[in-house]
Amino acid sequence: MRVLFATSEAYPLIKTGGLADVSGALPKAISHLKQFKGDIRILIPGYSAVLSKLKSPQTVANIVALGHACSLITGKMPDSGLTVIAIQNAHLYERPGGPYSDELGQDWVDNALRFGVLSRIASLLCSKNSPLLDWQPDLIQCNDWQTGLAPAYMKLIDKSTTKSILSIHNLAFQGCFDASWLKPLELPAAHFQINGFEYFKQISFLKAGIFYADKLSTVSPTYAQEIQTSKCGFGMEGLLKTRSSDLTGIVNGIDTQEWNPASDVHLIKHYSNNRITGKKAIKHALQQQLGLQMDANAPLLGVVSRLTYQKGLDLLPEMMPKLIKHGCQFAILGSGDKVLEAHFSALEERYPAQVSMNTGYHEHLSHNIMAGCDMFIMPSRFEPCGLNQLYGLAYGTPPIVSLTGGLADSVCDTNEMSLKNNTATGFVVKNVNSASLLVTINRAINYWKDKKTWRKIQSNGMQRDISWDSSAIDYLALYEKTRSNN
Ligand code: ADP
Ligand code: GLC
Repeated sequence: MRVLFATSEAYPLIKTGGLADVSGALPKAISHLKQFKGDIRILIPGYSAVLSKLKSPQTVANIVALGHACSLITGKMPDSGLTVIAIQNAHLYERPGGPYSDELGQDWVDNALRFGVLSRIASLLCSKNSPLLDWQPDLIQCNDWQTGLAPAYMKLIDKSTTKSILSIHNLAFQGCFDASWLKPLELPAAHFQINGFEYFKQISFLKAGIFYADKLSTVSPTYAQEIQTSKCGFGMEGLLKTRSSDLTGIVNGIDTQEWNPASDVHLIKHYSNNRITGKKAIKHALQQQLGLQMDANAPLLGVVSRLTYQKGLDLLPEMMPKLIKHGCQFAILGSGDKVLEAHFSALEERYPAQVSMNTGYHEHLSHNIMAGCDMFIMPSRFEPCGLNQLYGLAYGTPPIVSLTGGLADSVCDTNEMSLKNNTATGFVVKNVNSASLLVTINRAINYWKDKKTWRKIQSNGMQRDISWDSSAIDYLALYEKTRSNN
């Protein structure tokens, strides 16, 4: 089976969030399955970071997509050696700033074109006009809105026989653009309608994918249900309901090569469930590095996140002084909402020995916060899957989460019963509001003070198999189902 995995980010080439983690790890996990007799290749825009990190790059074809001349460069993933096809066009992709926005955080004004080209080339690679004649995919897995137009091009223009899956990592991002993009995107105007890619008078890349892909997947079973309701469907619930029988929820795993406290290259000490002492040294070093008081007896709470409404972290600043008064410390790494960044920075200024606020993107610090903290806070308003709570489980840093999406599917609240049957792995806030979150954090801290019980909670999480192994098997089953049209 030949699979093209089309994505706008993949770790370690380029990363802004969980999509990169999944795009780096899932194709690798599938390619390692004994049952997988095939070849999986990653298609990605040739941002500067991608081109500089690709191993053994080679230009294999030139192609014009939406009027833009591009080169296709194949190379190897630096970690897994998997084949990558990067689309090179300096004007579109080699810019300072991020994959979606400039250095000031403003979306690139031509994102419709940039990801239109990605989608168009994905479709061309699955067509009779592919410039890679010796490699025709049987199946394409598209990820999020950035590749959502590919299934539309495949059905409407290229009449492709390749099967398609659209994987929804976050329904909140829908890639909606003005109708004036119809022409530059070379989309047939006749399908700019409700039974097509039109969405409230705009072109929606995500809706196109949901409408035209053969199968749909999302990143947890609970989120697969939630997106069919008005509460979490972001207006797409009606369409998703009509496609219910084609929609599967498969929970993300973690890349145990990258995220394993026993071998993590970012840590000064390694530890495991059987020998957890190294975690203490990492906490000590983290407190020192962040300028926090070096106190082993202060509960250290971690946050690593995009700072957006989704993540619910705006609930924290108000309650932090109450927790700080009782000796808590906070290690925060996050960027996004400038007002929230400023709130956390103000708290750091007021309580320098107990709060550390770090903006920007720092892979090394994110691993050290995960390992060095006692617990991890993730009160998301919605969370398709979430990877950080999974890292928290693996690192003996029990997560405090809300009851939604993948968080609900991966964290089991601590109570008498779950402690007794060894399923307690973290703390769950039922209603996302400041008061409930505070109660839950205090509940977690009380358990933390009881060292024996805390070890049990840590151990339950650390023993869970949250690698990609079983989810990769589920994806392979989905690939086979999609191919055979069931
Ligand atoms: P989402 O994709 O919605 O942002 P996930 O929990 O699925 O949420 O994944 C987030 C990923 O991005 C994790 O690997 C997390 O460690 C990482 N991350 C988020 N913010 C930062 C940051 N400021 N620096 C480093 N890594 C970050
Ligand atoms: C999205 C979601 C997150 C998920 C990630 C990878 O960014 O917000 O919940 O873990 O994609 O699937």
